[in-house]
Amino acid sequence: MSDTSKRIAVFGAGYVGLVTAACFAELGHRVAVRDVLVDRIAALRRGEVPIYEPGLDDLLERNRERLSFTTEVGEAMDGAEFVYVAVGTPPTYSGDADLSAVWTVIDELPRVDHRVVVAMKSTVPVGTGEKVRLRLDARGLEHVGYASNPEFTAEGTAVADFLEPDRIVIGSFDETDGEAVAALHDGIDAPIVRADVASAEMIKLAANAALMTRISFINEIANVCEATGADVVKVAEGIGHDRRIGKSFLRAGVGFGGSCFPKDSLALKQLAANSGYHFQVLNAVIEVNELQKRRVIGKLVELLGSLRGKRIALLGLAFKPNTDDTREAPAFVLAGRLLAEGADVVAWDPVAGADGLYGVEQVATVEEAARGADAAVLVTEWPQLNDVDWAVVAQGMRTPVLVDGRNMLDPQAMRAAGFTYDAIGRAAATGSA
Ligand code: UDX
Repeated sequence: MSDTSKRIAVFGAGYVGLVTAACFAELGHRVAVRDVLVDRIAALRRGEVPIYEPGLDDLLERNRERLSFTTEVGEAMDGAEFVYVAVGTPPTYSGDADLSAVWTVIDELPRVDHRVVVAMKSTVPVGTGEKVRLRLDARGLEHVGYASNPEFTAEGTAVADFLEPDRIVIGSFDETDGEAVAALHDGIDAPIVRADVASAEMIKLAANAALMTRISFINEIANVCEATGADVVKVAEGIGHDRRIGKSFLRAGVGFGGSCFPKDSLALKQLAANSGYHFQVLNAVIEVNELQKRRVIGKLVELLGSLRGKRIALLGLAFKPNTDDTREAPAFVLAGRLLAEGADVVAWDPVAGADGLYGVEQVATVEEAARGADAAVLVTEWPQLNDVDWAVVAQGMRTPVLVDGRNMLDPQAMRAAGFTYDAIGRAAATGSA
């Protein structure tokens, strides 16, 4: 083992914790992952990966000898020089981030003689590092360092995002702690942004807010395109070539979901509000997204009339492709609204399940989902949908109506396949203005 190899304890075996652990092991470090979930740890010890994340299983397997999994804090901390906190920070009823799992980690840290640096991966409100510092000091752990090292990994590409990031952000109270955390990333070719702790915490929240703002912006442009006869796909292409604007995150659709954006937007909104500031742009971003998730209902009513007793097929349940994650997924909001309107809802997804969606029937193929349906809604742009024989799907439906909630399919080809086709903000392409 090279002398740059460190011992890291990762608290939390969720998406972020497991990706962090696997990637640090890949960089040559020895990593112990601790979680309170006994079944999850047992599964990981057996070599099973409890989440769907492309490339993660290979990485865990390849670095098996450098990784260990435990439910015991003491075992995880044995010789650890770094403690990565990667626990959940869900919203509370007030919209603030619930930091109880973070506090549990801090309060459970055993006394150590050598310097240990606590590095925060979980997304937390600005000011959390300061509070952790005070709590560590109050426990007599003044010699334990603290750094904020936020993640910018998206589900489905998390491994590549970690190992080939656009940047690494490290905020620390102590210069040497920041350097030590930076050194853990040796082998990764990326700019390192060193900052104070509060700024590092804000960078994470601001980055997510900027991305969400782009999505709600293009969704509003899409809605205006529909009203005025333009095509948002062309508009996004046209503005994306401007280097000051850029191409990414300009795909109009049924709104954003997932484990980060909805939660982090609320946390930032609340953080600002708690400090007496009304974050107007962010409030609009959130509201536009809520309305966008429901917009397809209006389209269906326009195409079908009352939805009572109509059979609607949802193609895709995951909040985006290449993940089984359905947290805050637009498909769930759509399903809920459709059921409330009295529709029968049938769903297809190659990976994600309809757990928690009472009254929704899940089937194994797109053809099955669409059979006898009054309309199909493409909710998640799964690549498998490129291989579907859409003419066969159209023939199997009671009325061949297709609403493409991700602007994934070619309007001309869909019409040729026999569909009444509508999409998001594509009046010029679909003739639906
Ligand atoms: C996001 C951030 O990308 C990542 O940096 C952060 O660490 C966690 O949150 P993730 O939630 O995994 O990652 O997915 P992402 O690919 O960013 O997509 C989020 C949502 O936005 C999805 O529902 C997606 O469908 C939607 N989206 C994305 C759009 O509607 N349009 C776009 O142009 C891009």
